[in-house]
Amino acid sequence: MTLQNQLSADARLQVEPCVSRFRAAYADPPYLGLAKAFYGDMHPHAADYDNPETHRLLIERMMDEYDAWAMSLHEPSLRKILGMCPEDVRVASWVKPFASFKKNVTRAWTWEPVIFSWHRGRKRTIQQPTWRDHIAEPIAMMRGFPGAKPAKFCYWVFDGLNLEPDDDFADLFPGSGAVSRAWEAWRLRAAPEQFSLYG
Ligand SMILES: C[S@@+](CC[C@H](N)C(=O)[O-])C[C@H]1O[C@@H](n2cnc3c(N)ncnc32)[C@H](O)[C@@H]1O
Repeated sequence: MTLQNQLSADARLQVEPCVSRFRAAYADPPYLGLAKAFYGDMHPHAADYDNPETHRLLIERMMDEYDAWAMSLHEPSLRKILGMCPEDVRVASWVKPFASFKKNVTRAWTWEPVIFSWHRGRKRTIQQPTWRDHIAEPIAMMRGFPGAKPAKFCYWVFDGLNLEPDDDFADLFPGSGAVSRAWEAWRLRAAPEQFSLYG
């Protein structure tokens, strides 16, 4: 490199800001109280998620490491887990028009809360479609994987977080891999379902 080139490279380094990518996460941990029962055979430390403290540590970690995050949970744990979150999080709902009914259970909760922690710097604009705080989508029929999330639910989460295709997105509890697959599809704008989200 000539001295002239070296000088311009140095000058560029001074003026070009070091822009770090927006970091976002979706957490789909084993639900509090169901962890060992549902995932004890799949993960050696599943039972840790039957302890509320593990969920508290997860929320702390997401606050420390990510600009924005969303987290699934079930309604019975909402009171406890919401109390562990910062005050500015919001609760949205995944309504399940088709859900599995258990024998002898006479009241079925066919929705799940999703907690969103947004980033002030990633506001939605009025040019964007208004995001809704709920989505109605049947459960994923993925045999052998309890809790696998349907693609349309994932698109709704990505939209809710106002993600952009080049964001650094982490699927913290990959399970079946459905969320990461949906992220790749969403990034490529390849999934037709997303266009009917606001229909
Ligand atoms: C609700 S499922 C995730 C489902 C996933 N979002 C999907 O769409 O397929 C929870 C996952 O967490 C895993 N898991 C259980 N205990 C864990 C632990 N202590 N640390 C990390 N992952 C755990 C389970 O094996 C399971 O794959």
